[in-house]
Amino acid sequence: MAAVIQAVSAYEQVKSRLAAVPSTWLITGVAGFIGSNLLETLLKLDQKVVGLDNFATGLPGNLEEVQGSVLPRQWGKFRFLEGDIRSLDDCRQASAGVEYVLHQAALGSVPRSIENPLATNETNITGFLNMLTAAKDAEVRRFVYAASSSTYGDHPDLPKVEDRIGKPLSPYAVTKYVNELYADVFDRCYGFKAIGLRYFNIFGRRQDPNGAYAAVIPKWFASLLRGEPVYINGDGETSRDFCYIENAVQANLLAACADDKVAAQVYNVAVSQRTTLNELFRLIREQVAIVAPEVASAEPVFRDFRAGDVRHSLADISKAKSLLGYQPTHTLQPGLAEAASWYIGRERQ
Ligand SMILES: NC(=O)c1ccc[n+]([C@@H]2O[C@H](COP(=O)([O-])OP(=O)(O)OC[C@H]3O[C@@H](n4cnc5c(N)ncnc54)[C@H](O)[C@@H]3O)[C@@H](O)[C@H]2O)c1
Repeated sequence: MAAVIQAVSAYEQVKSRLAAVPSTWLITGVAGFIGSNLLETLLKLDQKVVGLDNFATGLPGNLEEVQGSVLPRQWGKFRFLEGDIRSLDDCRQASAGVEYVLHQAALGSVPRSIENPLATNETNITGFLNMLTAAKDAEVRRFVYAASSSTYGDHPDLPKVEDRIGKPLSPYAVTKYVNELYADVFDRCYGFKAIGLRYFNIFGRRQDPNGAYAAVIPKWFASLLRGEPVYINGDGETSRDFCYIENAVQANLLAACADDKVAAQVYNVAVSQRTTLNELFRLIREQVAIVAPEVASAEPVFRDFRAGDVRHSLADISKAKSLLGYQPTHTLQPGLAEAASWYIGRERQ
């Protein structure tokens, strides 16, 4: 009788290995959107986690929510340090005894960086260099860091392939590119092999819908749920490769556990699915209309294009697939449906 061979994904294998032999992790930016989701997954795998955050944009409530979603004994394996990556001492303290670093702390947002390039530079470049130095000196096994699709800048090619980048279009993009340059130089000078994950518009639970620099998906959910207007910058035909948080978490764990042979480089983290802002608006409206039928007829308000924004973004993810074993589990629509229940629950609390 022919045997049925079930392929176990690289991610499932990595999770089983980690659960069998727990490790110690440092997550910087742990109180933020991506950081708190990494924390939740790692604690559920019984890992020991150190978290560093200065609450610049992260929220204590994100940590409380993670606490509520894991077992008390798992929460007991988490140690939080309120500290700042702009301080080398804080970075050293956080890195001591750690095996894997998932460096997420940064000031996100293109418009924030245009308004205050110095603040973005201090956290995203000086802070990054502090963390890279502290992690190298602590001899961690792997340093994985949040890079960004903004590094593609004005390069016209679609889909975006890792080694073809253009000129940065914002101070934020400069900082994320400098991260990659430092990571590369740390390999050349010290043999310290980091992995950069170029995130493409990650979305999901605990992404902050409030504030001037909120990302489009949480902002639009909140606006529709609050009966406020939804603004589209430009004609709505701007497109993005929206990637659900579960995929980004998967990429981090795969990168952390990857072999040295595939380290010291950057990888796109996306779905490779292009969606315009007009399409995105209709999909979010559909989700919100399930609980608020009056939203079904809502229309967006169009305004000027935003400085520093890339017109189209779509990733080629074949490098992450072939070298890391990355297999996105969520395309946009299932991701939006999961995110919707979180945003709706949060607004209705
Ligand atoms: N969300 C996305 O779509 C996306 C896309 C590309 C890149 N990224 C990158 O991913 C990372 C995480 O982004 P996010 O969306 O979770 O943002 P976030 O703002 O929710 O999280 C960032 C966290 O870093 C913390 N932080 C900021 N400055 C700090 C400092 N000086 N010291 C210590 N902690 C500090 C914040 O308080 C926050 O908790 C960032 O590096 C961001 O640039 C995100």
